[in-house]
Amino acid sequence: MTLDEKLQLVHGNLTLQNLVGPRGAGLWVLGIPRLGIPDLLLADGPTGAGDGLGQATALPSSIASAASWDLDEAYKYGQVIGKEISAFGMNVNLGGNVNLIGREPRDGRTFETKGEDPFLAGEITAAHLRAIQDQYVIAGVKHFALNDQETARTTANAVIDERSARESDLLAFEIALKDSNAQMVMCAYDLVNESYSCGNDHLLNGVLKGDWGFNGFVLSDAFATPSSVASATAGLDQEQPGQYMFGGLWVPESLSAAVQNGDLLLSRLNNMVHRILRAMYAAGVFDHPATVQSIDAAGDAAIAQEIEEQGAVLLKNANGQLPLNSSNFASIVVIGSHADVGVLSGGGSAQVIPVGGAALTLPPDCPAYTPGLGGLACTNASQIFDPSSPLAAIRAKVPAGATVTFNDGTDSAAAATLAASSSVAIVFVSQWESEGMDLQDLSFSGDQDALVAAVATANPHTIVVLENGGAQVMPWLGSVSAVLEAWYPGQRGGEAIANILFGSVNPSGKLPITFPASVNDLPRPTIPIPSPPDSTAPFNIDYTIEGFNVGYKWYQAQNIQPLFAFGYGLSYTTFSITNLQLAPNATAASGLQVSFDLTNTGSLAGAEVAQVYLGFPSAIGFSDGIGEPAKRLVGWSKVPLQPGAQQHVTVNVDANSSSHPLSYWNTSTNSWVVAQGDYTVYVGNSSDNVSSAGIFQVSP
Ligand code: BGC
Repeated sequence: MTLDEKLQLVHGNLTLQNLVGPRGAGLWVLGIPRLGIPDLLLADGPTGAGDGLGQATALPSSIASAASWDLDEAYKYGQVIGKEISAFGMNVNLGGNVNLIGREPRDGRTFETKGEDPFLAGEITAAHLRAIQDQYVIAGVKHFALNDQETARTTANAVIDERSARESDLLAFEIALKDSNAQMVMCAYDLVNESYSCGNDHLLNGVLKGDWGFNGFVLSDAFATPSSVASATAGLDQEQPGQYMFGGLWVPESLSAAVQNGDLLLSRLNNMVHRILRAMYAAGVFDHPATVQSIDAAGDAAIAQEIEEQGAVLLKNANGQLPLNSSNFASIVVIGSHADVGVLSGGGSAQVIPVGGAALTLPPDCPAYTPGLGGLACTNASQIFDPSSPLAAIRAKVPAGATVTFNDGTDSAAAATLAASSSVAIVFVSQWESEGMDLQDLSFSGDQDALVAAVATANPHTIVVLENGGAQVMPWLGSVSAVLEAWYPGQRGGEAIANILFGSVNPSGKLPITFPASVNDLPRPTIPIPSPPDSTAPFNIDYTIEGFNVGYKWYQAQNIQPLFAFGYGLSYTTFSITNLQLAPNATAASGLQVSFDLTNTGSLAGAEVAQVYLGFPSAIGFSDGIGEPAKRLVGWSKVPLQPGAQQHVTVNVDANSSSHPLSYWNTSTNSWVVAQGDYTVYVGNSSDNVSSAGIFQVSP
């Protein structure tokens, strides 16, 4: 390859004169026909094929996929993304958002992520990525690393110690990459310990390419390249969107001059090019070129519905209010959130234009203050409702003679009056979020809390359905009879919600993120902002406050009771977990095996997610605030069971797996080290509802 050909592969081609690439790609790298190297055509999409390429299947939000705790369903989720990205003729997917936003549940991109636990988030993401790459589309993870709030994301400096980083955010990336063989990593806008992520030698050369042996390529988030030669030397392999007019630093002239005067080693440029080409071969981009074709809209919509049915989480169900039965059917009132036309979706670069087009488009609901943004700003986004009407789906479920009325919820008193004369009230509340903004708190916006309270006062059979991207607080929780967390439910959200409300589907989702009782319980009760607010100088976010105790580990360590714990979720049936046993004579080398009997003790078929947590030897610095070792998730099994059926379940915890389940990051040896001492093994159906299966001893 000539020097010019090499330089061509390491940057994108967006210019003011050239805003759209081949096949409508928003980001692209031109190929080299002389050498048979195809164009790299990049498309967003953690929740479906994005970037306005055309109408695509709007999947439920990624956090719903995580809430399914089902790796087969997660694979199907990625398969839809990969197939549709490829059908638009693209060959790189910019999905794989595995930022551990449990650090900041107000993050406006929570819906794109997989929650707060590195093991669950890493494994769900890995399943997405495997499926995408099986469609010959290069899959990747983002945003590396610690890009856990949107506010001032281009100047935020994540302050964190090495052990905490390795055991939390970095671990999620490590698992996602190692268990998928994904070929791309997008570095983030923020700084980590005072070095911009895309020029961070420790993160890119040290951790990613060194310790993890990552062979693929690192591309910059859009406009996130902090320097030219220094970033290349620090491990960045490709700049996006490149080149002139947009602050692009890797214009061919600059890098070519640097190579010629020796500032950039030719061997490094060769390595950048080698990584990009190697990734293209590894993912099958050369052998299986993407061809433009129509998507399988019907088949993919069915998968979207299935994922929502597996990922919705039943949070409350007093007196068996759900599923609805004939005594509730006489008159149903459906209230709020435009449930007559569709379901809400999340905004920003993860936005999908749904098949059938938006049912409703509203202006963005941006907080007043979102300074210092790079890339997409909240004000450029829209609130898009996917065309799947819960009202229509509910109407389709009731017998002839029953009435289902709709009230838009803008007048609480009118809604309450209708509710008072109805047998049951179903209130939809929603919270829009987007890239380029953070939520100011965890309350539902506008008058929605007052609406729910008024309706609940008028009707004792009030069911609340939530359409949102992450954790919420619910001041009215005590006065309603049922709550269903539907997340952003996607292309067939209405049908999935109706199937759950009427019992055609028994809910089995579990929360992948803690719902705190109040923002005051968060490690940072207010979102860090620059000072003064319009400053463009880097400002610190102190992630050493919670360190590796992200999400449920923080609540354990502080001995704070959340509203709903990580791993929590109800079913229409009941389960018992009995006969807990640890395999005898287990060693750290053999790993540990825990087995138990899981029984469906109720009268309906359903699935339970049995979760295995490990309490570490207290000497290595974990504590739950009440003197017991803090627990972390090390395994789970989702088991479908007929009423009365029992299954003996075994969960293996392999010390050598990518999640390092028995290890902590030892900063003296710079390596994972199995801790010596007593580990308590817990099994349960939520992080705060577990029983001890015994002690696993690791001796010197
Ligand atoms: C986002 C990325 C996205 C990129 C390209 C940026 O604003 O942070 O997640 O992939 O834009 O659209």
